[in-house]
Amino acid sequence: MAKTHDYGLGEYTFPRGWFMVAEAAQLHERPLSLRYFGRDLVLFRGRESGKPVLLDAYCPHMGTHLGTNTTSYVVRDGVHIEGDAIRCPYHGWRFRADGRCDDIPRLRGPIPKAACVRSWKVAESLGIVWVWYDEEGLKPQWPAPELAEWSDPAWVHWKVDHLGTLPVHGQEIVDNIVDMAHFGPIHGLDRVEFFENEFDGHLAIQRMVGPHRTLVDGGDKLHTDTTYHGPGYLLSHMRGRHPSIILIANTPVDDGVSCAWHALLVKSAHAEARAADVAVAREFQEASRLAFAQDFEVWAHKAPALKILQVNCDGPFHLERIWYRQFFNPRARAGEFQHRVNGLHRIRGPALPQAAAGA
Ligand code: FES
Ligand SMILES: [Fe+2]
Repeated sequence: MAKTHDYGLGEYTFPRGWFMVAEAAQLHERPLSLRYFGRDLVLFRGRESGKPVLLDAYCPHMGTHLGTNTTSYVVRDGVHIEGDAIRCPYHGWRFRADGRCDDIPRLRGPIPKAACVRSWKVAESLGIVWVWYDEEGLKPQWPAPELAEWSDPAWVHWKVDHLGTLPVHGQEIVDNIVDMAHFGPIHGLDRVEFFENEFDGHLAIQRMVGPHRTLVDGGDKLHTDTTYHGPGYLLSHMRGRHPSIILIANTPVDDGVSCAWHALLVKSAHAEARAADVAVAREFQEASRLAFAQDFEVWAHKAPALKILQVNCDGPFHLERIWYRQFFNPRARAGEFQHRVNGLHRIRGPALPQAAAGA
């Protein structure tokens, strides 16, 4: 297992960006105990605001895990979550959404300043809870993910595939955005007719056209327009058998360990998707998941590519790895990395026809 330092990425162990931490549907009455970014966390839905709250898991009083408890009377009496706050099961200290303790049962005098846990900036969109991770603790550099298609009733909402945890650094996953040469051997896309990458600040983009064995019919071609929005997730607009949008998200669990998800938003043939359209969408998502699982199997078993023996029929790994480094270094230095890679890098094919560019 290789770590951030082994890849020479920068001074921070975990990169800056929006990262998936849970599916919104996982948030029920009980808090969720999570582990990401090398720390234990507790996620719950505030009863007052209805918004998700993400806090560091351990109580500053005596280190109790705020979320993992089933037998205390705090939990059994249903006072574990109160309003937008969570009560520690051990001695009942209560922590607000901003992490400050606002109640210590039977305390005489003021609550100590140190009675707080770290609160994380979260957003809920596309059926997912996201965290803005930033070692500098600054405001998000770009908005949490949104898609206009999500509120269009013609599109069938995805059901997120949980792919599990891998002993693989996010670098190996994000390399995929430039990896032209794997499309034939892994995905059966023998003739990539067009392939280009573009780097634009925090975005890494791939545009590709070619036949595909599973995601298009007969002689049709697959068009994908894929963007990593920072290091944590990509959205790929795909014109295949159905217009659709792939989500692939990866979140560091520990240094060198990643958790990954896949999902597919599918456009139905009707202005308002019907039950039969949902079945078609689920089937197409499964085909897309299986295509992604082809990459996943390789990642699960490979040795770390600390250096890539890059050849001239590869995509521009060397540029993508510079792009990725901006997130492991202070935000003030991001421009240094962007400046070295920003722009269009066409690898194969003529200039993209307009129709494909808007796919
Ligand atoms: S350990 Fe949390 S209140 Fe005592
Ligand atoms: Fe792939």
